[in-house]
This record gives sequence, structure tokens and C-alpha cells, in this order.
Amino acid sequence: MKAVVIGGTGFVGMNVTRALVAAGHDVVATRKVHANTLFARKLGAPLVRADLDDEPALCEAMRGREVAFMCAGHYPRYSLEPQVEIDVARARVCRALSAARKARVSRVVLTSSIATVGPPRHGERSTEDDPIEPRSLESVYHRVKLAIEEETLASGLDVVVLLPTGIVGELDVKAGTGFLFVALGNGLLPFFVEGRTNVIDADDLARAHVAAALHGKSGERYAVGGHDLMVSELLERVAEILGVPMTAQPVPWWLAGPAATFAEMRAAAIKDGGRPFLAREMVDVVRFGRFVDSSKAARELSLSPPTPLDDTLRKACGWFVKHRYIRLPSRVSEGVQGVDHAPRPDRTDRARPRDDYPPPEAGAHR
Ligand SMILES: NC(=O)c1ccc[n+]([C@@H]2O[C@H](COP(=O)([O-])OP(=O)(O)OC[C@H]3O[C@@H](n4cnc5c(N)ncnc54)[C@H](OP(=O)(O)O)[C@@H]3O)[C@@H](O)[C@H]2O)c1
Repeated sequence: MKAVVIGGTGFVGMNVTRALVAAGHDVVATRKVHANTLFARKLGAPLVRADLDDEPALCEAMRGREVAFMCAGHYPRYSLEPQVEIDVARARVCRALSAARKARVSRVVLTSSIATVGPPRHGERSTEDDPIEPRSLESVYHRVKLAIEEETLASGLDVVVLLPTGIVGELDVKAGTGFLFVALGNGLLPFFVEGRTNVIDADDLARAHVAAALHGKSGERYAVGGHDLMVSELLERVAEILGVPMTAQPVPWWLAGPAATFAEMRAAAIKDGGRPFLAREMVDVVRFGRFVDSSKAARELSLSPPTPLDDTLRKACGWFVKHRYIRLPSRVSEGVQGVDHAPRPDRTDRARPRDDYPPPEAGAHR
């Protein structure tokens, strides 16, 4: 296929580009003018400039392409002005969809989020058919993701929507989900929000994008996840792999939420204040996190079983260590990169059993 990856310098975009190139497809990827292209330019696909605020450039990037992978979307950095964030998100996705229409792209594959599904109506795990609950619309991230999906599904184009859970893997340049790994590995994670989560390997997700383009049914949404677990279990395992102590303490979302709002206000008030020390989005994805049933995607997109969790975590940790996001003593880092660092047997017992922590609103991923 002739593909264009919109957001080709991002975590998902780079993994999708890499999977497309590996499968022998003809790919171009977009970058913003001031994007960090350090990793993207090594993936074997040409980079073309296109901003979501520049419809002619998007149209140019999409011209002659059969499939557009929409891996860029408005990411609300702050939650302080919800309506502004939602309006920006809608305007940007509409520009991209209009460009796709004008460029006569045959199919759009949207990277959305599991944030747009609600608690399970049957059993323990949510599917794409479980509607979002009104309470989660308190979250700007959830509202933005829903708005982007609504615009895409209403566009009249041939669209397939993927709903990834928490993505873990290589090329997480901005340390999105990997923020927790990096902070833990560097001894800088004093606390975390406990809850349910589901983790998908970035390579599995990238292959799911390729499969969605080839086999997905038009207008369908597919939940794509990997492994259900509690955030504490995830962090315990990451600490084992990195060989660092698991010192982070759980805090409830209702305490972390106001702390995140304060952090955002502080970062917004300081010019170039950088990233808030705690993002509201990170709290919300845990608060409304889910265990996830991806059987529809597995069946209809013919996906292989998920990569074993340990392989995914070792790969991600190895990448963060290799690229100096995490600084470990060299003896330990060799074990991480070699993916055969023996687990310390005394740690697994400390992971909190799932039944121990039942609040349905607690969990994680975007
Ligand atoms: N990461 C996760 O765990 C996760 C989980 C579930 C769903 N998702 C969803 O997956 C999508 C991609 O996430 P990600 O983790 O790959 O994020 P990311 O690493 O921030 O990548 C986003 C990409 O979009 C580009 N972009 C942002 N604003 C743009 C604009 N105005 N014009 C053109 N390009 C723009 C970025 O360019 P720059 O790099 O130059 O800013 C980057 O290439 C998002 O919709 C996210 O909600 C992510």
C-alpha cells in the first residue's frame, strides 16, 4: 500500500512507520517544522512537513497515498481550559479529514484511545461496545479523544478506529507512558496512582495499524490491548527488570487529581515552565482505567497473540537505558539490554492481588 503516517515523529507514528517499512509498504511520514527527527529520520521513510493547522500541506502529504494513518492528534497539555482544548482538537482533525477527502485517500486509520470506552457491562473486561460513562467526561483528555473520534466517524470517509491501551515499547521519545519507567528507574517516582491498566506492546500496536488498513471494516472501532494488570504490578515488574528498588507509594486518584491541577497551574503560570510534575491526564487514565477485551480486533484483524509482557517491558526498559533516559550502574544496564536479567524472586509476591483493589474507576492508560 501507499501510506502516509501523520505524526511520523511521535511514539505511535514512528512504530507504525517502522512496521509499514518492515512489511514492504511505500511510506512517507509527516513532521512538524520544529520536530525532533533524531529517531524518525532513521526509519527508512521520507519525512515531509505538515502541521495539523496547515490543510494545504496535509493535502500535499496525502496526495497519491491510499491510506492515511492519523497518529497525530491534539494532546491537551493542560486541563485548565477544557472547551479551548476540545475546539482545537476538533478543528485539527477536521482539517486533516478535509485534506484526506481532497487528496482522495481511500482509507483513514485513526489512532484513538481506550479512553473512549466505558466500564464493562458484562464481565470484567471492557470492549469497544461499552459506552463511555458520563463521569469520565470530567477528564479533558477523555473529552478530546471522544471529540476526535466523533468527527472522524462522522466524516463520511472510509475510516477504521483503533483504541489502544497503555502503549509500551521503543521510540517513546517523549517518555509518554514510559514516564513512569523513567522516573522509577532514576529513583524519582515518589508515588503513583493505583488502579487497573492494560498494556500493549508498541510493535503489536503498529502491526495492528497495518492490519486495520488491510482488513479492518469501514466505520468500525477496535479495542487493541495486551495484558491486564494493576499499576503496582506493572511498576514492581519494571523495578525488577531495572534492578532498582520499588520505592513509589500508591496514592488515590482523588488526592492525585488536585495535585495535578496545581502542577498544571504552576507550569502554566511560569513562562516556559515545561511539563507539569504530574499531568492530570495521567491521573485520569488511571482513574478511568480498564481491563480490556481485544477479541474483536484479534478476530477481525487476524492479530497474533500479544507479545509476552516481560519481553515488552524488557524491550522498553532496554531502550530507555540505551538512550540514557534511565541511568543505571553499567553492571545492571548490561542485564537490562541483554533481556536476560534474572528477576529477583522476593519481589513478585509483593504485587497487590487484583481482587485486593476493586474500584471500577481505577486503572490506567490513554
Ligand atoms: N502513548 C500512549 O500510551 C497512548 C495510548 C493510547 C492512545 N494514544 C494515542 O495515540 C496518539 C499518538 O500518541 P503518541 O503517544 O504517539 O504521542 P506523541 O509521541 O506526542 O506523538 C504525536 C505526534 O503528533 C505530532 N503532532 C502533534 N501536534 C501536531 C500538529 N499540530 N501538527 C502536526 N503534527 C502534530 C507530534 O509531533 P511533535 O513530536 O513534533 O510534537 C508527534 O509526531 C494520540 O492520539 C494518543 O492519544 C497514545
